[in-house]
Amino acid sequence: MKFKRTIVITGGAGFIGSHVVRLFVNKYPEYKIINLDKLTYAGNLANLKDIEDRPNYRFVKMDICDFDAFYQLMQDEHVDGIIHLAAESHVDRSIKDPFTFARTNVMGTLSLLQAAKLYWESLPEGYDGKRFYHISTDEVYGALEMNHPEGIEPPFTTKASSGAHHAAYGDDFFYETTKYNPHSPYSASKASSDHFVRAFHDTYGMPTIVTNCSNNYGPYQFPEKLIPLFINNIRHRKPLPVYGKGENVRDWLYVEDHTRAIDLIFHQGTVAETYNIGGFNEWKNIDIIKVVIQTVDRLLGRTEGEDMDLITHVTDRLGHDARYAIDSSKLQKELGWEPSLQFEEGIEKTVRWYLDHQEWMDNITSGEYEKYYESMYAGR
Ligand code: NAD
Ligand code: DAU
Repeated sequence: MKFKRTIVITGGAGFIGSHVVRLFVNKYPEYKIINLDKLTYAGNLANLKDIEDRPNYRFVKMDICDFDAFYQLMQDEHVDGIIHLAAESHVDRSIKDPFTFARTNVMGTLSLLQAAKLYWESLPEGYDGKRFYHISTDEVYGALEMNHPEGIEPPFTTKASSGAHHAAYGDDFFYETTKYNPHSPYSASKASSDHFVRAFHDTYGMPTIVTNCSNNYGPYQFPEKLIPLFINNIRHRKPLPVYGKGENVRDWLYVEDHTRAIDLIFHQGTVAETYNIGGFNEWKNIDIIKVVIQTVDRLLGRTEGEDMDLITHVTDRLGHDARYAIDSSKLQKELGWEPSLQFEEGIEKTVRWYLDHQEWMDNITSGEYEKYYESMYAGR
C-alpha cells in the first residue's frame, strides 16, 4: 500500500506517545505511522494493544542514540515527519542518575536531528514538506514565584469572565518568551535538547517546531508519577509519600488534550515557532491528592475521604520547583486549540480507568519495578 506520508513517532510506547500514536493511526489511515521505541522500563506495548494490527502501523524497537540504525530507517521508509517524544521523563530518577538523562535526552535528540538532516538534505526536494517536531516541557523555564499562597477557591478555574486568564497562585505565567532556567538534571537535559532542535533550524534550515507542555495526566501513565502512583497506593491502602508540605503547584492537562494540540501543531503550526501547551489549571499537590483520595474512595464504595490518613509527609525532592503555570494563549489564539475537559471530569475519568485496568497496573508494579520503588523511598 502507498502511503501519503511516513511519520516516525519516538517514545510511542510511553504514556503520551501511546496516545499520539493511537490518534494518528486512527485519524490518518493514509499515513504510515512508525512507533520507534527502545522499550525502557517506561515503554509498554500493552499501551497500544488496540491498534497494533492496523495496516498503517509499524513498531520498531530502537534506541534513539543509535545514529546508524535511525539513518537507515529514514532511508528505507522515506520518512518525512518526526514527532519526537522519546525521553527519560522522571525528575526523581534524574536526581539519582543524571547521565542517562544527558545520553537519551541530549545525545539521542542530536542523533535524530543529524540523521534527519543528512537524509532530507540528500533528497532533490530537500526540506520541502518535512517536519521535525520536538515535544518538550514547561520545566525548562524553571520555577515561578508563589505570591498568593492561599490562591483562589476550588475548582481553581483560572479563566475570568472577561475571557482573560489570571494565575491562581502567583502573578505570572511561563510564556514562550520566558528565559530558560532549568533546575533539575531532567529539565536541564530537556532544555539542552530544545536548544539543539532550534539550532538545526537556525543553522541548516531544518523545519522544526518545539512545544512546551505542562503536567499531563490520564490513562497509561507510568505509576512512578504522582497521580497513577497515588491511585494505586490508595487502592492497596499503602502510604502516600507527599514531598515536603505538598504546597508545590503544578498546572494539569488531560493527556488527550495535549495529543489534540500535537496533531494540530504538527499539521498547522508555523515552522521555527514555539508553542506553550497548558490548561490554565493550577493545583497544589496536597489539594489534588485530596481530590484523588475522595474519588478513589467513592468509586471503590468506601466512605469518601476515609483514606486521608494514608497521607505521609516525606523528605522533599531536592531542588523541588515551587510552581509551574503555562500561558497557552498563543496556541489558543493562533490555532484555536482549547482544553476540552474540566479537571474534575478528567480526574474522575482517570481514576475510573486505573481502577478498571488493574491488570495493566499489576503487570508494571510487580517484579523489577517493585524493587526500584522500594529503593527510591528507602531514604525518605
Ligand atoms: P514516558 O517516560 O512515559 O515515556 C517515554 C518513552 O520513551 C518510553 O516508551 C521509553 O521506552 C522511550 N524511550 C526512553 N529512552 C529511549 C531511547 N533512548 N530510545 C528510544 N526510546 C526511548 O514519558 P511521557 O511522560 O510520555 O513523556 C513523553 C515526552 O513528553 C517526553 O519527552 C517528556 O519530556 C515530554 N513531556 C511530558 C510531560 C508529562 O507530564 N508526562 C509533560 C510535558 C512534556
Ligand atoms: O511539568 C511537566 C513535567 O511534569 C514533565 O516534563 C515530566 O516528564 C513529568 O514527570 C512531570 O514532572 P513533575 O515532577 O511535576 O511530576 P511528578 O508526577 O513526578 O510530580 C508531581 C508533583 O508531585 C511534584 O511537585 C512532586 C510531587 N510528588 C511526586 C511524587 C512522585 C510527591 O509529592 N510525591 C510523589 O511520590
